[in-house]
Amino acid sequence: MSSDWPRVRLHVVTGKGGTGKSTVAAALALALASEGRNVLLCEVEGRQGVARMFDVDPLPYAETRIATGLRAGDREPGSVYALHIDAESALLEYLKMYYKLGPAGRALDRFGVIEFATTVAPGVRDVLLTGKVFEAVERNSRNKGARQYDAVVLDAPPTGRITQFLNVSESVAGLAKVGPIKNQADTMMTLFRSPRTAVHLVTLLEEMPVQETADGIEDLRRNRLPVGGVVVDQIRPRDLPDEALAAARAASLDRSEIETDLKSAGIDTTDPLLDGLLAEAAEHAERRALEDAQHAVVAGLGVPVYELERVAGGIDLGGLYDLAAELKRQGMA
Ligand SMILES: Nc1ncnc2c1ncn2[C@@H]1O[C@H](COP(=O)(O)OP(=O)(O)OP(=O)(O)O)[C@@H](O)[C@H]1O
Ligand SMILES: [Mg+2]
Repeated sequence: MSSDWPRVRLHVVTGKGGTGKSTVAAALALALASEGRNVLLCEVEGRQGVARMFDVDPLPYAETRIATGLRAGDREPGSVYALHIDAESALLEYLKMYYKLGPAGRALDRFGVIEFATTVAPGVRDVLLTGKVFEAVERNSRNKGARQYDAVVLDAPPTGRITQFLNVSESVAGLAKVGPIKNQADTMMTLFRSPRTAVHLVTLLEEMPVQETADGIEDLRRNRLPVGGVVVDQIRPRDLPDEALAAARAASLDRSEIETDLKSAGIDTTDPLLDGLLAEAAEHAERRALEDAQHAVVAGLGVPVYELERVAGGIDLGGLYDLAAELKRQGMA
């Protein structure tokens, strides 16, 4: 199946904390890296989540090949490279490139310049992080020796910060009204606002993250940033028929029928066991009803929706490829 985002070169993955941003970003990178394409997966939050997911050593500030892309179709898959971007390294690289400072850049460290730029002026910190992502997307063949990518995936900050994070022109507005920094920020904004960027939002089928997703979409639109799809992660298996769910909620499941079934499966039943099972069934059905209600809200957001089931026992590398295949099947990659 063809992708819903053929023109997109920069996939930004955001969402409420803990919903599955890093997992989805990694799976999307694998999916995009099928059929000979090379993909760069960037993380900016300094927690080495990518290294943990792919079971490799902590990533340096250098593009490192970490996996073979998803096998799909006739062509050989490409590769996923990863880059851990920290503001200090990005600034040193920037100084080296633009001012030919080389090792002298490090001397600035002693005067507190690096610390000032990366911690005291938080807007600058974000511009350094997004600046490196921008460079990887826009890199061209004139940049000798640098690898070019078919797509870049960014494991981004959470929904509450994403608009500010990408709004680099505004971040530097207080520092520079004109000049190279302002120009650079404006050029970056042109990419972030273009159809070559998509900001995807990850959510669970729970009230808070869904509300945050709806608010996030509105905020992105208000700031003219391109909204991508919503990925609903960790969906509970839908293996019970509606009648059974309704009966479980209404506490009208047939107790003796369940008892007979358990006995025929060779399980000794006791009253406490049956009580426990019925209570659990009611709770499951209740949660499913809440999920269905949130699902309707997500469906009404007016953007493509992708769904990933909760994998029992957690996600290992094989599990990541399974999620990647699912995203590809659903048209996200
Ligand atoms: N579909 C899934 N099935 C099972 N476990 C999942 C699934 N998706 C994510 N997880 C697990 O949920 C946890 C949170 O996921 P992840 O780290 O990707 O979230 P995050 O949004 O990046 O979190 P943070 O805000 O802390 O960066 C992880 O342990 C991850 O393995
Ligand atoms: Mg994460």
